[in-house]
Amino acid sequence: MRKNIVAGNWKMNNDLSQTEALISDLKHQKNRGNAEVMIAPAFTNLYSAFNALKDTSIEVTAQNMHFAKNGAYTGEVSASMIKSVGIQTVILGHSERRAYFGETDLILKQKVDAALAADLRVVFCFGEELADRNAGNQEVVVASQIKNALFHLDKLVFKNIVLAYEPVWAIGTGETASPQQAQNMHKFIRKTLNDKYGKDVSENMSILYGGSVKPNNAQEIFSKPDVDGGLIGGAALNAEDFFAIVNAF
Ligand code: PGA
Repeated sequence: MRKNIVAGNWKMNNDLSQTEALISDLKHQKNRGNAEVMIAPAFTNLYSAFNALKDTSIEVTAQNMHFAKNGAYTGEVSASMIKSVGIQTVILGHSERRAYFGETDLILKQKVDAALAADLRVVFCFGEELADRNAGNQEVVVASQIKNALFHLDKLVFKNIVLAYEPVWAIGTGETASPQQAQNMHKFIRKTLNDKYGKDVSENMSILYGGSVKPNNAQEIFSKPDVDGGLIGGAALNAEDFFAIVNAF
């Protein structure tokens, strides 16, 4: 059975004291327990966040990593560095990484391989831009993003992968995909997985939706059969809003 997951992507927000304050607020929230909860603070705050949350059910994840094991890559962070502070999951392929930092499918394929080799779980993000959707190309684009970065993998490793469909036009814009648009795409993603790897992979894969999920729309989006959770940006920066979304399951 696939899991429901709600992950908060803090992006480049919150310094150390703000991270500590938000975590303290998160600890006061009640989780009804129908979804796994993750938060992804900035690299500098992973260690303190991990320690602050290690006896709770909130998992701390990284937002990115480099694919090399170590070496002359100024400013980068490796899988083993992330693991060494207790982190077990990394988000890869976020549209901001693709758009602002030039991350291509090929780079992401290498990152996915490096993360899985280091025994990190991967939340793999992808999604079409507005022009793709307006041209009716959203399924072609999404299928190629998934195939290019993941379809060289053995089916056994998919238990360590979570997918996050994030239409670029819905991220941080206040414009959400309609619950039906999300469902249609998630169903298509599951079928794409099924065609390549069979039901073992497709039916057990958690597919999250991301893009302007808020307390007032989460329940309807999460009620769709192929939507197994959310990757939350803006609304994850407020503990009450974030847990209102977690408890929408
Ligand atoms: P948003 O961001 O919820 O602020 O739209 C989602 C994301 O980028 O993961």
